[in-house]
Amino acid sequence: MRRIIHDCDPGHDDAVALLLALASPEVELLGVTTVAGNQTVEKTTANAIRVLDCVQREDVAVAGGATRPLVRERHVAAHVHGETGLDGSGLPSPSRAPAPVHAIDWIARTLASQPDPVTLVATGPLTNVALLLARYPEVEGQLEQIVLMGGAIGEGNITPAAEFNLWADPEAAHRVFTSTVKVTMVGLDVTHRALLTPERVEQLAASSGAGRLVANMYAFYAEVYRRRYGWSGAPVHDALAMAHVIDGNLLETQHRGVVIDTGPEPSRGRTYVDRWGISEWTPNAHVAVGVDAERFLTLLVERIGRLP
Ligand code: BDR
Ligand code: CA
Repeated sequence: MRRIIHDCDPGHDDAVALLLALASPEVELLGVTTVAGNQTVEKTTANAIRVLDCVQREDVAVAGGATRPLVRERHVAAHVHGETGLDGSGLPSPSRAPAPVHAIDWIARTLASQPDPVTLVATGPLTNVALLLARYPEVEGQLEQIVLMGGAIGEGNITPAAEFNLWADPEAAHRVFTSTVKVTMVGLDVTHRALLTPERVEQLAASSGAGRLVANMYAFYAEVYRRRYGWSGAPVHDALAMAHVIDGNLLETQHRGVVIDTGPEPSRGRTYVDRWGISEWTPNAHVAVGVDAERFLTLLVERIGRLP
């Protein structure tokens, strides 16, 4: 079993990723840390607790982190996730306050207390992770790997060039991709090829309380993808990154050099992936290039059906 920490900005797909982790015996979730991204950190923190409440996991620690990106101004993704960050969920207010400690201090303490290296699954902007690496450099030896949802080889979803998480805090992403920790990048190239369909959502809705929650969230979230992309299904980006930690056979990855564009628009936040070795950049990330979508969606539906 792999011990993990989930750093996130829930966010509909972050919520699905969290539920997937809770339902999967392959991983032990040590705690959840939150960051400003899809919404303010106050809202993303509340949302993490609201999701945990829904499946009666009051025992899982939640610590709030960065209120804004390292350098750039804050941009939230209300156009995708709504004003609450979890519109459509119908969840009540959170039952508790987060731990009275900053996310990066919580992560550092937790890593230091573990006998073995831990996997950090990062599904929001990388601000907390960059701050953690800067403040506690020793964590580079305490992390088994960082699996992150973000970036893309060939497209964008917040600008034509950039994916939201990387664009929201490119300087933080640069810090993470230039660390010595093993990084796996699960980007739009694969998440856009593994769409959760209405049929699967029907199965989920009939399966469990958590499945109904996903169905409620989907009704809001999938509409964004129908309108903008014309798709009849929606990518569950963050859940695919989490699923990779649970089942190493879902994604095909290539070890490649990746550079984050920290310059101005229109390319700010872009992930340049030297896929064909053209620039001979030293490989610094395992980039997802292929996905077994069927296997992923089957896992997702089956696992979430196990929850209360
Ligand atoms: C990523 O951005 C957020 O809106 C989602 O939660 C996901 O982490 C997709 O680009
Ligand atoms: Ca996210």
